Amino acid sequence: MVDRLSGYRQSLVGGAIVGVGLLIAQPVFAQESVAVRAHVAKGTVPVEDPNAATWNDVPVSEFPLSPQVHWPTRILEVTAQTVKVRALHDGQQVAVLLEYADPSEDPDDAAALEFMVGEKKAHFAHGQPMAQVQGGPVNIWFWKNKDAKVLDMNAQGFGTLKVQDKQDTKGKGVYQNGTWKVVFSRALSTGDAEHDTQIKPGEYINIAFAIWDGKKLESGDLKEKGSQKAVSSWWYFRADPPPDYSSYVYAALAIGVAVGVQFVII
Ligand code: HEM
Repeated sequence: MVDRLSGYRQSLVGGAIVGVGLLIAQPVFAQESVAVRAHVAKGTVPVEDPNAATWNDVPVSEFPLSPQVHWPTRILEVTAQTVKVRALHDGQQVAVLLEYADPSEDPDDAAALEFMVGEKKAHFAHGQPMAQVQGGPVNIWFWKNKDAKVLDMNAQGFGTLKVQDKQDTKGKGVYQNGTWKVVFSRALSTGDAEHDTQIKPGEYINIAFAIWDGKKLESGDLKEKGSQKAVSSWWYFRADPPPDYSSYVYAALAIGVAVGVQFVII
């Protein structure tokens, strides 16, 4: 009996050690990795500068990426395994910075952000109607190295991807030491709620990422293109609400009243 008890104890301790070991061995992602938090910028928002010093003070969230296997044409291996994301806003403009590893700079290297538009839930695969989701429209911001700009696009299912008539997005990509840094930016609200996602500080919306390694293979084909890319599913995005100074104002008022009352009494 005693032997059996000590056996159980040993296996409990062993299990605990293995559990802690597994926890430690997990890939370490930043704590905020379920959401991109757009911090309120102290100065101007670096809407077209991925190397601006301001970015160094912004906490990073990191998201895993997978080869796109939902829909033909599928891909089983991709270059970008994770993407690091930072964001800033000043109540008017928002900028989202993606950073990811890519061993070579190629003209067809590309990256994109995706948001839902309006209230209807949309699948992260372009808002394609699927078994689980009826499918609403999505707003895609698409940067391609050779175009050196960010296109403002819409889709609601495959084959419907379209460049918007009115372009509201900006951005820039910079390649250095095997790393792409790409900044995407836009006004928080555009006044066109039918086509553009509207970002209201304090509210959570969904965001998804896509990255293409546009390297040319010996066959002449691009390693990744169109549906063949590294994708994430939906994560969350939230622009911080502006700082609330009302408690300081109330405290100052209270002190003022107290001082006034004392003055009258004296
Ligand atoms: C499982 C998820 C996804 C699937 C199955 C998928 C599928 C496709 C397909 C079939 C195309 C070819 C064009 C078309 O049919 O409209 C395409 C192109 C494209 N997709 Fe996706 N996609 C997915 C996720 C995403 C995400 C998350 C984004 C943005 C963050 C995105 C952005 C784009 C862009 C910008 C293109 C055009 C690429 C180019 O013209 O070079 N996709 N995708």
